[in-house]
Amino acid sequence: MARGAVGPGRGFGRGKVILLGEHAVVYGQPALAAGLGIGVTVRAEPADVDSLAIPAWGVAEPITAAVTAIKQALEIAAPFRLEGDARVPSRAGLGSSAALAVATTRALAEAIGRALTDVEIERTADRAERVFHENPSGVDVALATRGGFGLFRRGVGLEPIVAPPLRLAVGLSAEPRSTAAMVAGVRAIADRTPVQRAIAALGELATAGRDALADPAALGPLFDEAHRLLQILEVSTPALDELVVSARAAGALGAKLTGAGGGGAVIAVGNEEEVVAAWHAAGFEAFVTEVGA
Ligand code: PMV
Repeated sequence: MARGAVGPGRGFGRGKVILLGEHAVVYGQPALAAGLGIGVTVRAEPADVDSLAIPAWGVAEPITAAVTAIKQALEIAAPFRLEGDARVPSRAGLGSSAALAVATTRALAEAIGRALTDVEIERTADRAERVFHENPSGVDVALATRGGFGLFRRGVGLEPIVAPPLRLAVGLSAEPRSTAAMVAGVRAIADRTPVQRAIAALGELATAGRDALADPAALGPLFDEAHRLLQILEVSTPALDELVVSARAAGALGAKLTGAGGGGAVIAVGNEEEVVAAWHAAGFEAFVTEVGA
């Protein structure tokens, strides 16, 4: 494509689950995370005016602000019509905003004929993530860009981990929540000693989880302990606790909230089909998925 010319572009960004270490990762602790098989695909078409449509989500104002941030980072002045095919639920702690940011970055870069490295994609998508909360650790965009499994540390990036795909049950609390509000809530209590201890312990669990990835019986108890620590951070809710308790009653080896909390999703390992059946019976939306593939 001639320099300055624009054409159509298409890009994909993956959803993610944080297996261990959410919130602690904002404070420099490691987080263990995995890419989902599902995510967001964005198509970009040159147009007369900028527009964005994501039928599966509806479109909220912060999303358009995020697209503007990406366009500025890529120095794109030309208007585009963007269409998103979202297969990951929004605002559920499954990395939907990062998936959209990475997909949009890839689509717009292709539309202007610019090849970006993974590091450049992450840096650009991070500008959009800052629209959603001012202090993102970067774990979401790293997984949205690269997938697989990884141990992420702020300022260091993603250390990829080779492990077989992991089956998880994912249950949705159906409570909408804001990552920004949850991160701010933890910051407000971060000077309390029990909270500081919980943050350090969550980081240790993430490191321990790396060696337990291939062994659900070892991973399960780490999930249980992480959920207890996240309760100390005050990011769980009655619905998330109910999902965790009913997963264990249905035979899960361990269960925890994933992502920012305050609503969103719970993940459980072991007896996944039974766990999902129990969640459905209790009226929650839920599915089994493989992560890290
Ligand atoms: O709920 P999500 O998908 O927005 O994940 C947020 C993860 C946090 O650790 C709470 C924040 C961050 O920037 O890492």
